[in-house]
Amino acid sequence: MHRILLLIAILMPIISCSPDKPEMVKVGTIQDNEYEPSEWGRIYPLEYESWLKTKEMRTPGLSKYKKGWDTDNIIWDKLSEFPYMAILFNGMGFGIEYNEPRGHYYMRKDQDEIDQSRTKAGGVCLNCKSPYMDSLTKIYGKDFYSMPWKDAISKIPVKHKDLGASCMDCHDNKTMDLKTNRIAFQEGIAKLSKKDFSRQEKRILVCAQCHVTYNIPKNDKGQSIGLVHPWDESSWGNISIENIIKQIKNNPSYLEWKQTVTGFKLGFIRHPEFELFTKQSVHFNAGLACADCHMPYKRVGSSKISDHNLMSPIKDNLKACVTCHPKSEERLKNQVLEIQNCVVSLLNRAGYATATVAKLFETANKQIEQGKKIDMAFYDSAKDFYLEAFYRAIYIGAENSVGFHNSSESSRILGDSIAFASKAESLLRQALTKASIDIPKDLPLELSKYLKERGTKKLNFKPEQEVKDPYKNQEKLIPDDIKGIQ
Ligand code: HEC
Ligand code: HEC
Ligand code: HEC
Ligand code: HEC
Repeated sequence: MHRILLLIAILMPIISCSPDKPEMVKVGTIQDNEYEPSEWGRIYPLEYESWLKTKEMRTPGLSKYKKGWDTDNIIWDKLSEFPYMAILFNGMGFGIEYNEPRGHYYMRKDQDEIDQSRTKAGGVCLNCKSPYMDSLTKIYGKDFYSMPWKDAISKIPVKHKDLGASCMDCHDNKTMDLKTNRIAFQEGIAKLSKKDFSRQEKRILVCAQCHVTYNIPKNDKGQSIGLVHPWDESSWGNISIENIIKQIKNNPSYLEWKQTVTGFKLGFIRHPEFELFTKQSVHFNAGLACADCHMPYKRVGSSKISDHNLMSPIKDNLKACVTCHPKSEERLKNQVLEIQNCVVSLLNRAGYATATVAKLFETANKQIEQGKKIDMAFYDSAKDFYLEAFYRAIYIGAENSVGFHNSSESSRILGDSIAFASKAESLLRQALTKASIDIPKDLPLELSKYLKERGTKKLNFKPEQEVKDPYKNQEKLIPDDIKGIQ
């Protein structure tokens, strides 16, 4: 009997697969509202040092699709990687400069470095960047959201102007328990009808403060009046793209910008890591949290800490994965790659199908302007299908894991996007044909027009960065001459 118990005691950590949490070695006092990470670092030097490392460039050549800020010093331009996005985002800042993410150290700085069309929304942009967001909205009220960008930045204490996600964003200063630090996020979570959160769930929530989608409602003058998460009618573990689209369509104030090519007022979708991961992914269902893969335990001298140097687990040589997938690192990496290849293939399909419809609307609109009568019932129905295709394609395009966080859901969403886009295309083609307007078999996308000389930096297409369909099927559907990139 004792032997069996002993055996169970030895096997337990292996069976349960998640290691014990690191011991908290020292407990000292950290002042309330202490923004300065080095003050927290006096008491927790190891976590502080690993947190500082998000400044470092990463090893190049490890990750195929997330080449954010590696020592090769290349900034990866999403519009060169996925040229169709240049058509879809034309009319807003994302259509001018849109880069792959890099380490947390840069989150605030990057707002200054990027084309300033991206900060047009004003003070609200600080929500996912500065720990001062909540205290500033308390002082300046809702006006802070629409405050011109330069003025908003000047309200942050000079010393912390460039400070991004900090200890106080995720930790309680007295107990070091995990906590959140964004009012807008807390209001969003309240919509999910869930009150108590386990430790594991909090290890998701601290990241979800920023790695989520949101809308910036506008008033009549186009000023930002808030920041909301489109999670009404959703629940914990079930925030679907269908529900998100429904919220955007039902709230005219969420239509933040006008797409140049179609002339449509549209909503926008940002980095939905939280939503995609918690939509019943394999790992969410197995009880994992973001921190399990992005903050693995590591030894520093005789101590064990959660690695605060957040990055792609692939660039960390899959250290986070081997506790549960001990067999072969190489095989696991190939498995991740195969998932991402499939998702990228579908993403290209959905993106180009949607961009083609956008160009078709451009043609239809020109004809209407010139006085041609087009069957508006067909037109409106095509528009509705186009919106369904558009929001789905940009959802997975904005999600940062290239589908890994939830591969089946990613494929489902992209499959639907493709179906909606082809329905929209066929309806619009019928409407044009009925009006005796001749449309070429392959509509030229004229991508150069959207990719060249973008913004004040005059950014250009970088052909070597283009992410082509790994299975070469997209090229059969829309060959390079139709894409029109020189
Ligand atoms: C205060 C907002 C905020 C919080 C909280 C936050 N992130 Fe981020 N994260 C960002 C932003 C913004 C970027 C992109 C920074 C850039 O490119 O300048 C980013 C980038 C990343 C990256 C890419 C890093 C790289 O080297 O390319 C990873 C991985 C990441 N975050 C994971 C996490 C995880 C896991 C958590 C929770 C433990 C988390 N983040 C919490 C805002 C946040
Ligand atoms: C089962 C492990 C796992 C979990 C859980 C997980 N991720 Fe990831 N994450 C990955 C992998 C693998 C990638 C792809 C990295 C690559 O391709 O280089 C990734 C990519 C990312 C990236 C982009 C990294 C980069 O270098 O640009 C961000 C940001 C991110 N995850 C945030 C999150 C957030 C937030 C959560 C929780 C809501 C989460 N992840 C949950 C494994 C995980
Ligand atoms: C983006 C969120 C985030 C930020 C920012 C952050 N932490 Fe953490 N921290 C975590 C998570 C998640 C854990 C794991 C907690 C758990 O498992 O209960 C953690 C754990 C810890 C622990 C417990 C021991 C350990 O290593 O697991 C300490 C101490 C700690 N962090 C200190 C800091 C300090 C100091 C800073 C600022 C320099 C900081 N953290 C910034 C998310 C964060
Ligand atoms: C705490 C344990 C745990 C960790 C850590 C973990 N996984 Fe998993 N993983 C699982 C479980 C459980 C499954 C589901 C296995 C099953 O149902 O057969 C799974 C399934 C998978 C699958 C197949 C399912 C799919 O998504 O297609 C892949 C690939 C995978 N994991 C990769 C990774 C990678 C890469 C990492 C690190 C970034 C990682 N896992 C970290 C527990 C874990």
